[in-house]
Amino acid sequence: MNFEGRDVISIKDFSKEEILYILEVAQKMVPIAEGKEKSDLLSNYIMASLFFEPSTRTRLSFETAMKRLGGMVIGFSQPGTTSIQKGETLADTIRTAESYCDVIVMRHPNEGSARLAAEFASVPIINGGDGAGHHPTQCLLDLFTIKREKGSIEKNRIALVGDLKYGRTVHSLAYALALFGVDMMFVSPPELQMPKEVVEECREMGVDVTISNKLDNLDEIDVLYVTRIQKERFPDPEEYSRVAGSYRIDLKTLENAKEDLIVMHPLPRVDEISSEVDKTKHAAYFRQTFNGVPVRMALIALVLGEVK
Ligand code: NCD
Repeated sequence: MNFEGRDVISIKDFSKEEILYILEVAQKMVPIAEGKEKSDLLSNYIMASLFFEPSTRTRLSFETAMKRLGGMVIGFSQPGTTSIQKGETLADTIRTAESYCDVIVMRHPNEGSARLAAEFASVPIINGGDGAGHHPTQCLLDLFTIKREKGSIEKNRIALVGDLKYGRTVHSLAYALALFGVDMMFVSPPELQMPKEVVEECREMGVDVTISNKLDNLDEIDVLYVTRIQKERFPDPEEYSRVAGSYRIDLKTLENAKEDLIVMHPLPRVDEISSEVDKTKHAAYFRQTFNGVPVRMALIALVLGEVK
């Protein structure tokens, strides 16, 4: 397996074996991610972190990942303070950044922007989310979380809940779970259903997909993956107000849940999960947030060729 120099644009760029290998490397990174062991593996490297869209976890965990491995970080999270404000194109911004660094992490509101950036860059591009398109590193940390929490990815029945139309994390995750042969339930308001292509692709890969607008049968579910309604991607604000608050997970919802059901969420949450759930054994979302660090450490080290 060779990751050196590779771009990370979509989870579809990776085979099941490659995904499992990334998770294996991530597992070894955990003590360094926790700050219990020191590392200078990437001490000669600079990562550019180019965020054209709001982010808390993705940007901070990438920067933490790089720094925990002894690397350095440059970049911006407010594109309004850069030459983009003067009309500079994405291509020129990327060509500039790459002359200052060894790897670029970017998030951008346009679908396809990471792929476009990769065409211009000779350093690896890691996609931190391109519009409603892909979010491969979130997908890897979601898989890592399921594996750590449940012991395996395969033996679970998983429900993806919320905004399945605009939520990029669920587009990547549905594909990856299908690759692992996991049956899924897609639960959303009718207006926010999983795109047809994603559903068809999962079915062609041989998994059983159930589509519903009601969250019932919680007693059959092992992993409940909740998402935020992606307000910023709605063309019509009225359409948003019709579906806002569609699903809310609280203690009552979880009454019939399996003892060991885990609730995941890529975060940020707005009101999809009541804060009273945080204290229950079901809540895995803050551990999921932490898992972004070892997974991103593994990815950066692999694409830089420092882990083989
Ligand atoms: C998600 C994203 O940006 O797609 N957040 C994240 O990366 N952890 C989910 C969201 O914004 O709802």
